[in-house]
Amino acid sequence: MKEFLNNIITQAGQIAMDYRNQASELKVNRKSDKDLVSEADEAVEAFLISEIQKAYPDHAIFAEETGQHEGNEHRWIIDPIDGTTSFVHQQLYFSVSIAYEKNGVLECAAVNAPALDELFEAQKGCGATLNNKPIRVSNRDKLIDSVLATGFACVRSDLTHNNMPYFEKILPNIRGIRRYGSAAIDLCYVACGRMEGFWELNLKPYDISAGWLILEEAGGKLTDYDNGQANIPNETVGTNGSIHDDLINYLTTIKSHQVK
Ligand code: IPD
Ligand code: CA
Ligand code: CA
Repeated sequence: MKEFLNNIITQAGQIAMDYRNQASELKVNRKSDKDLVSEADEAVEAFLISEIQKAYPDHAIFAEETGQHEGNEHRWIIDPIDGTTSFVHQQLYFSVSIAYEKNGVLECAAVNAPALDELFEAQKGCGATLNNKPIRVSNRDKLIDSVLATGFACVRSDLTHNNMPYFEKILPNIRGIRRYGSAAIDLCYVACGRMEGFWELNLKPYDISAGWLILEEAGGKLTDYDNGQANIPNETVGTNGSIHDDLINYLTTIKSHQVK
């Protein structure tokens, strides 16, 4: 399964790059005022679904642009381009994100950031890699020494429970903040030790499933804001484990003032 996943995500990354480098104007539609989908998202997803259905016709698929494709206990969770805004704006931080699960348990995953030439992979119980080299989370254990990432899907969706109060309270207490624009890359950058943590409201399973397994296989931890699993992915906190409880303390305190 890992070899099959490596093969299709590598080809999918190339399709995305071909669209990025094409001379003609990229066709882009709006799912809402600020939420975009491009012809590249649709082409990458169509390719991946076709390859999976050819190889595993009975498997289920859950993909961002075409939704649920019914099947058996094997399921593929696909974000064809995570970071479409970055992609459309000719930036580098976008990725293809694919996770495979059996009976609801994540078994293998891959996140391909083709413009960065970075392929993250993981298999349950076998660790995680970046370009075939093993990766581990950092051992920084203080928030003040940590670089964190976040995102603002909640603001894009005009939600009243949004990230601004969290951002305002956490920012003065950490070394630095990053907003790369791809939740999958955010989680992978925690997994390889480039950052210590990531938090975001209002994500979807296809944003985080692959990054979740890669992070856990690299020694990290992913929970909701209450340090549990019930509210994932509406609430997503992924860290190196060492700073998890300190970050959770901030998030639960701020949430208690936000959500009545
Ligand atoms: C988005 C990215 C972004 C996150 C947004 C997601 P998309 O995915 O992961 O980092 O902040 O909430 O929607 O829409 O480009 O696939
Ligand atoms: Ca996404
Ligand atoms: Ca997407």
